[in-house]
Amino acid sequence: MTSFRERYGPWALVAGASEGLGFAFADDCARRGLDVVLVARRAQVLEARASELTRRHGVRTRALPLDLAAPGLAERARAIAAELPIGLVILDAAYAPRGELHDHPLDELLRAIDVNVRAPLTLARELGAPMRERGRGGLIVVSSVAGLRGTETLATYAATKAFGRVLAEGLYAELRPRGVDVLACLAGATRTPGYEATTRRDVAPVMEPRDVARATLDALGRGPVFVPGRSNRAAVWALERVLPRRVAIALLGRSTRALNG
Ligand SMILES: NC(=O)c1ccc[n+]([C@@H]2O[C@H](COP(=O)([O-])OP(=O)(O)OC[C@H]3O[C@@H](n4cnc5c(N)ncnc54)[C@H](OP(=O)(O)O)[C@@H]3O)[C@@H](O)[C@H]2O)c1
Repeated sequence: MTSFRERYGPWALVAGASEGLGFAFADDCARRGLDVVLVARRAQVLEARASELTRRHGVRTRALPLDLAAPGLAERARAIAAELPIGLVILDAAYAPRGELHDHPLDELLRAIDVNVRAPLTLARELGAPMRERGRGGLIVVSSVAGLRGTETLATYAATKAFGRVLAEGLYAELRPRGVDVLACLAGATRTPGYEATTRRDVAPVMEPRDVARATLDALGRGPVFVPGRSNRAAVWALERVLPRRVAIALLGRSTRALNG
């Protein structure tokens, strides 16, 4: 049996690794013996997180502070890929403008496109290319149950999450024959700083980030789509297979309004 490190190592890169689900992914990659590049905007937090992983798991880490929405991402990605053999990429960072679309300045909505669409596409292409050449590796796109249908007050975010899932499905088919595993993780409510900051009250069972990360990494290789958690799987089944689209849109909208108050 090939070990996780042989299959997806030696380095993993996690985009959005300073806290929340991204840090849980970075931690679980390190626990599985991968060296980890941590990407997010806050340099000091990132340095502290990187040291924490080295201390806890004895792996090498690299803090790479950058804004995924800034220009020049492709060049940065190519430079890091040339320097480190990256065998696993986790595209986790996201921006979720909340509230009705017309109450947001356009710039803010376009920022969600930059962080949630342009950046994952760019990183998947530039960091995935060497994996495709090597004939091994893995790519995880963190999507959301919210991306299954249009969701009022989260319309832009939900649409970007649909993009992530569909991108992963296409890449799964393209890269599987070349030895690279691709997986979309359709996360449901997860107790992260981002969730806590924007949620008035829980309306569904909430998962812990470490459980989502662990189950998703276990599912890598069984793509193209993984839904962590039994209640999330039931919700996805109902939203995709049982309810008429219009009813699903109304239900998602109602629960999002209740979540955010
Ligand atoms: N939490 C949930 O309930 C839930 C449910 C479904 C899906 N998801 C998905 O899970 C993923 C993680 O969510 P989360 O709740 O853990 O988010 P979070 O707590 O808000 O953390 C987001 C991470 O991304 C980084 N980040 C944000 N914007 C960035 C940018 N422009 N450039 C670089 N890094 C950036 C943040 O670090 P810095 O601030 O330091 O940049 C942070 O490390 C997202 O893809 C989200 O759509 C979450």
